[in-house]
Amino acid sequence: MTSTHANVSNAALPVRKAVFPVGGMGTRFLPATKAIPKEMLPIVDKPLIQYAVEEAYAAGIREMIFVTGRHKRAIEDHFDTAFELEHALETAQKHELLALVQNIKPDDMQCVYIRQPRPLGLGHAVLCAESLIGNEPFAVLLADDLMVGDTPILAQMVQAYAQVRASILAVQEVPHAQTKRYGIADVAGNTEQLAKVVGLVEKPEPADAPSNLAVAGRYVLDSAVFDAIRNQPVGAGGELQLTDGIAALLATQSVYTYRYEGRRYDCGNQAGFLAATVDLALSRMDIAQDFKAHLRAVVQANA
Ligand code: UTP
Repeated sequence: MTSTHANVSNAALPVRKAVFPVGGMGTRFLPATKAIPKEMLPIVDKPLIQYAVEEAYAAGIREMIFVTGRHKRAIEDHFDTAFELEHALETAQKHELLALVQNIKPDDMQCVYIRQPRPLGLGHAVLCAESLIGNEPFAVLLADDLMVGDTPILAQMVQAYAQVRASILAVQEVPHAQTKRYGIADVAGNTEQLAKVVGLVEKPEPADAPSNLAVAGRYVLDSAVFDAIRNQPVGAGGELQLTDGIAALLATQSVYTYRYEGRRYDCGNQAGFLAATVDLALSRMDIAQDFKAHLRAVVQANA
């Protein structure tokens, strides 16, 4: 079956909705993720999903759509009111902590939850949000990619969307030897910050990689991607891949890469998670001094 792409976004609309696929099993982080969603693992003292939601909010988005699965109740609880906790903090006059808890979900932010019945892949997870998105452009944020920039990465991309009114993939240059870990975008040698995609290859061997531009977990997508995903054959492991859907979009629409200004931490694996923890702890005024002293001692002891 070929894609009809009937559901093309109204490109005049701004990006108002964000999808957070959180239905995966997080097997690389077992045993921690046996009962706790991967997206609730904290970097310093904030869960990964909260960093991603704050990034979307900073980009002007107010409707957050979580595609959840089994054992993901903790995410809903995190963004819900915790009446007993707030009451206890208020009674104890712990005003700063009370504000911190209440600010997790600002009043003008709406959270919507939809279940992915089985983890059938990232493309399938995004497809689960179709009825909540309709015909408008939307963002997708993978919370296990923690993105840090002076201007939040999604805000950079939403600005770029206003220029091109077409789907945009966040990309970063990676060492050529590492291309087989990522989706790699072919931009025909274009070195601009915004470049038109001519092809997308999932996890190519370095020798076959058309570039070293790796797709990171931030997307602004045209709603035509839903038809494109739906019309893909199921891939390896019985999963529907988002990359395959976006690659199919290229036949009918422009798609751009965006070289973001900032840093990505792949918190889906232990080394990336630890790097994020160290860097973010060092950027925290309240922790940095003691933590730096500890790190110095560790480095000296292991020199
Ligand atoms: P990952 O492949 O990194 O997550 O998907 P995973 O499958 O949970 O992790 P491992 O490999 O078993 O450790 C990237 C994002 O897509 C979501 C995940 O929750 C994660 O945030 N996802 C993945 C879904 O929502 N549904 C799926 O079927 C697959």
